[in-house]
Amino acid sequence: MALSDLKGRSLVEPDDFTLEETESLFLLAEKIEKDVKYLRESCRGRLLATLFFEPSTRTRLSFEAAMLRLGGSCLGFAEPGSSSASKGESLADTIRMAACYADTIVMRNPKEGAALLASRYSDVPVINAGDGGHHHPTQTLTDLLTIKRLSGKIENLTVGFCGDLRFGRTVHSLAKSLARYKNIKMIFISPAELVLPDYLKSILKKANVDFEERENLDKSISEIDVLYMTRVQRERFFNEDDYIRLKDIYVLDSGKIALAKKNMIVLHPLPRVNEISVEIDSDPRAAYFKQAKYGMYARMALLASILGVV
Ligand code: CP
Repeated sequence: MALSDLKGRSLVEPDDFTLEETESLFLLAEKIEKDVKYLRESCRGRLLATLFFEPSTRTRLSFEAAMLRLGGSCLGFAEPGSSSASKGESLADTIRMAACYADTIVMRNPKEGAALLASRYSDVPVINAGDGGHHHPTQTLTDLLTIKRLSGKIENLTVGFCGDLRFGRTVHSLAKSLARYKNIKMIFISPAELVLPDYLKSILKKANVDFEERENLDKSISEIDVLYMTRVQRERFFNEDDYIRLKDIYVLDSGKIALAKKNMIVLHPLPRVNEISVEIDSDPRAAYFKQAKYGMYARMALLASILGVV
């Protein structure tokens, strides 16, 4: 078991942990899911700081739920206006302060690279809960655990990514991570303005990943085993008119899903806006709410490992 190697480590990018370490985390998350009492008091007396410079529902609440379920406690802020960042305190100083009070820091920040900077100034592990349009590695743990639990494997799959692939940090992290698994074909479906960044395409090419870029969801959906829908990231656009023009470009509805495999899995990191019609929620292929729950188990496994209680 490689979990003891994770003690005291930060998670800034999705491949900061080896494949073996990631697989061990999934085994632990599955054990926690099966037995709610497992590790229940293991983090008593430990503190998690949740520093959210951008809005969040799932990531912040699931981290807090994870820590509380492990017997630990949480402190932090849900928006920077209530912290001294609003008075001009630097990120480096904010992190130094949080590291004085907490055993681990979870941070979301609108700036790409903020989590890396935080990890360099922190005496305690830093977990990246999203840095701008860059990465969101714990969403990837959530996504991979969901694929593993629902497909029974993370190999020999065609994964379709649809929507805002330019700014969607969850897409960036998941694609980079999936490149480490066997025989994963990736189909990237987006308008030309929102294609996957070049640096990620270079990573996929270097890893010999079979991938294609397309614009049409209807013509692609029948090939896909796991469809990863994403919202158009309004907060990253410079121009509101562009956002309005692109926001509803893909909507998964009953007509489109009728063209898909009967056992396709529909994932979405959430929040959704319009890109998945609510009529899909009752389709057995819709897995996005289950996915959010698996996120809590993945984060429990992560915190227990980083805090060295397993
Ligand atoms: N998936 C995700 O990051 O959701 P939140 O923005 O609600 O945390």
